[in-house]
Amino acid sequence: MTRIDSGVRTDVLVIGGGVIGLAVAWRTAQRGPSVVVVDPRHGGGAVQVAAGMLAPVTELQYGEEPLLRLGMASNARYAEFAAELTELTGLDTGYRQTGTLAVALDSDDREELRELHAFHRRLGLDSHWLTGRECRKLEPMLAPGVRGGLHVTDDHQVDGRRLSEALVLACEKSGVGLHRAEAVELLVEDGRAVGARLSTGEELFADTVVLAAGSRSHLLPGLPAGVLPAIRPVKGQVLRLRIPPVYAPFLSRNVRAVVRGQHVYLVPRADGELVVGATTEEQGYDTEVTAGGVYELLRDAHELVPGITELPLVETNAGLRPGSPDNAPLLGPTALPHLVAATGHYRNGVLLTPVTGDLLAEYLTTGTVPGLAAPFSPDRFAPRASA
Ligand code: GLY
Repeated sequence: MTRIDSGVRTDVLVIGGGVIGLAVAWRTAQRGPSVVVVDPRHGGGAVQVAAGMLAPVTELQYGEEPLLRLGMASNARYAEFAAELTELTGLDTGYRQTGTLAVALDSDDREELRELHAFHRRLGLDSHWLTGRECRKLEPMLAPGVRGGLHVTDDHQVDGRRLSEALVLACEKSGVGLHRAEAVELLVEDGRAVGARLSTGEELFADTVVLAAGSRSHLLPGLPAGVLPAIRPVKGQVLRLRIPPVYAPFLSRNVRAVVRGQHVYLVPRADGELVVGATTEEQGYDTEVTAGGVYELLRDAHELVPGITELPLVETNAGLRPGSPDNAPLLGPTALPHLVAATGHYRNGVLLTPVTGDLLAEYLTTGTVPGLAAPFSPDRFAPRASA
């Protein structure tokens, strides 16, 4: 890790070294500016728990078409982004073009999925209706009771842990300063962001500060009121199982369903890991794994794929998704001059990593907000003066 002396200046200071902050730093440094990222653990954060589904279509909610466009744009960049990372670092990100099968377990679910399919078709998305038998032909481990499903051929996967390791190394190789410390205060002078004070007592000064601290972004002391909305932490508990070679290929693609109103998904990796996620819990900054969370995930996943009970359970974990008030990210300049936001990615942080890196790097080096980022301006939450 790079050592920074107190009082040093940089062009861009990124607060938060999760995948979003790292991608912004890497892509910006590639264009020339000097960049420093501060975080107690670079490559940590929600990505260490995330399953790594790249699911612009199967995570889509009604009314979220601008987010769909952003997600599709990021998905389209992923293969090249991952290949570039691997070429630079020699590390594999686990990016795989597997597609996703979203299935229905009863006739109500089937009707809901049929409506979703119609919505997908209206939007021109690659989403194909399959009967239960066709679903089982694709994935023989599915429960016999599966009533039908949607095969979404462009929703893929990446291994978030490998991705973040590659991004850390890519930053190092591209001259980004990775400073291991917590930003404890945003420094503001003459009505503009000028840097940060760190847990080590040092002060770092920058022309532009990028706030990419996930669900803690709005809590940074020194941030003037109203600049960022509250970013709520949305807990997700996740399980990791191992597929012994004798059972391979256990699943060939991401498999998901909504069971009793809760999303459950299974993401099979090439290295034999099977990730089962995720709960959605809004109860503050709690990352405790609970017996109830593990029970519900296993129960719902077992309904989808009964054979999972044979697999070794190797890890349980919980992370916090950063949810903005409208569940879409905040990308670009804020009301505080020289403070830029890259946060609030909610359920789509891993998916949106490439596009966030590119869009923010473009803004930071040209001063122009790219059109794709415009709907996600932090301004949309700015308090308006009443008439
Ligand atoms: N994108 C999956 C999740 O947030 O659970």
